[in-house]
Amino acid sequence: MAGQLIVGLDVSSRARAEEIVALLGDTVDFYKIGYQCFYGADGFSLGKALLAAGKKVFFDLKLLDIDNTVEKGVAAIAETGATMLTVHAYPQCMRAAVRGAAGSDLCILGVSVLTSMDDADVAEAGFARDTAGLVALRAQQARDAGIGGLVSSPHEAEMVRTIIGPRMAIVTPGIRLPGAAAGDQKRVMGPGEALAEGATHLVVARPIIEAADPAAAARAILADMNSGTRLA
Ligand code: C5P
Repeated sequence: MAGQLIVGLDVSSRARAEEIVALLGDTVDFYKIGYQCFYGADGFSLGKALLAAGKKVFFDLKLLDIDNTVEKGVAAIAETGATMLTVHAYPQCMRAAVRGAAGSDLCILGVSVLTSMDDADVAEAGFARDTAGLVALRAQQARDAGIGGLVSSPHEAEMVRTIIGPRMAIVTPGIRLPGAAAGDQKRVMGPGEALAEGATHLVVARPIIEAADPAAAARAILADMNSGTRLA
């Protein structure tokens, strides 16, 4: 397979998170722990338990603070053996995160512009560029900072790939099989198509964790990843 599937454990109960991991069994070996699980379901401890059980863990904590704080926080995450960690893609923050992760296998991912923000939101926040311009700038800065990859909308993956080159990871949420409920995601894309656009890792939460049979839902997404299907 060209890419890896990461299941977002977007739940507020540790028991439910463990139940999902058990239901997915060997079908899934990579989990994302974001705000909801980290703060609401003892997610730091859960992540360490998953790592001890041989799973890969992506802590989606979107860090942003002064350099010293970012560097020390990232170093603490790196010590757990986690696979991925997000920081906001501000140049100073990315450079501090690279220092914090030095000597470990932790892949630092930059969040360029949140996919919930459109041009009006970016302007309201005080940026002089439009969303696409800001994503492009942040992609260049991520490459120059030496981080491991970027989180990107699948619709921006091709453009980001041309800027960052072939080696960095591109992690895309907003993935849905044809006909699946999009939820609050405004612009979705199929798994195979996202990989064809340059993504290396796909994050999927609700279509798997809310499915009646999560393992079957994960297998359907893996099959589409392997087939390289493009949506019409
Ligand atoms: O349920 P769904 O598959 O839409 O979940 C996508 C996951 O990716 C969620 O954990 C969400 O927080 C995360 N994410 C996102 N858009 C971003 C960054 C992260 O949907 N730009």
